Amino acid sequence: MLITVHAFLRLAFPVQHALSMHRQLSSEDRSDGNKEYEGASRDASMGQMTPTVAASAPGKCILFGEHAVVYGEPAVAVALEQRLRVALSPAASWSVDGSALHPEKHPHIVHLRNRFLGEDSPPMAIHIQGDIPRASGLGSSASLSAAIGAAMAHLSNGTVAVSNDALSEAAHSAEAAAQLGRASPMDTSTSVEGGVVVLSDRRESAGEWAYTRRLSTPEGERTWEVHRLDPPPAEVYLVLGNTGVHAPTSKQVAMVAEALAMNPERRREIQAIGTVARRGLAALLRGDYEAVGHAMSENHLLLRGLGVSSDELEELIRAALPSSLGVKLTGAGGGGCMVALTRDPKQTSEAIELAGGRTLVSKLGNEGVRLEQV
Ligand code: PMV
Repeated sequence: MLITVHAFLRLAFPVQHALSMHRQLSSEDRSDGNKEYEGASRDASMGQMTPTVAASAPGKCILFGEHAVVYGEPAVAVALEQRLRVALSPAASWSVDGSALHPEKHPHIVHLRNRFLGEDSPPMAIHIQGDIPRASGLGSSASLSAAIGAAMAHLSNGTVAVSNDALSEAAHSAEAAAQLGRASPMDTSTSVEGGVVVLSDRRESAGEWAYTRRLSTPEGERTWEVHRLDPPPAEVYLVLGNTGVHAPTSKQVAMVAEALAMNPERRREIQAIGTVARRGLAALLRGDYEAVGHAMSENHLLLRGLGVSSDELEELIRAALPSSLGVKLTGAGGGGCMVALTRDPKQTSEAIELAGGRTLVSKLGNEGVRLEQV
């Protein structure tokens, strides 16, 4: 007899077993306007059977174009080696790492659950682990949405694989729902697609166009064109230096908007970021990493001019520069992370750590969302 997982769960309601689980990092989502996922290292005793489904998705780092992308210029993001993994097992009630699933605390997860499984679906315990630091511009929240979406789509569809387009659309709408209707699809598309992703308000000639994302925002209808890029492989690495300072994206974006409103001439700086991003994009496609690094550093100078850097970021950037091909802040700035492109990740990491930053190393272009063995 053929039976879907969904139907099976309804029939075979499981008994919970108490089992202590050790995790490198466990987490909960939160809805305080901070779009990053909350990581809280702790052990938890909770109901747990062999997971029914598991999935993982990468974090992201913006190589070019942050802030300018808000005004339609292209931005380029790379999927990181760092990932979040989620495992879902049948349980007596819905929970996330031992806490009850709550629409305010876990808006992304509730949105995806309602979308893929339905509000009345049999409850599951969700466990999250991974190595993407939260609230640092590395896309931990989007990675969680992508992985949860993939796991739930699998539960609902059985063997029929969900398309990247559908999954990235669902993850994007979950992010938007959790962020009062304001979310670019940058993080979610990169987490779903993996590799290198380009976002723009128009179809770019560089890269392969993948799909259009649309969103009704409080400011009106927005459209993004999403492209995939396949740069030639090379022995280069990204070193991410975390300042440990948290600056909310919304505040940084509002600051730029205010600066432009006060002096519309400054729109030229936004266009200049777009020009540098397109130059960086072309260099990436040629595999010319010296030129990629150069464009990253140029992009940083423009971001600094816009006022979105910080003393802490500048200190880490200065430390990384001598051993790098290029260095810039990544994400919204004001704190969070900087990124260095380097052929010598050990030396660059050491320099950043000596200057007080915490580091992560990643190669470029990692795999997107995937189902995992359970
Ligand atoms: O720090 P992140 O990953 O939230 O990146 C923000 C990127 C911005 O361009 C500043 C905002 C946006 O919505 O694109």
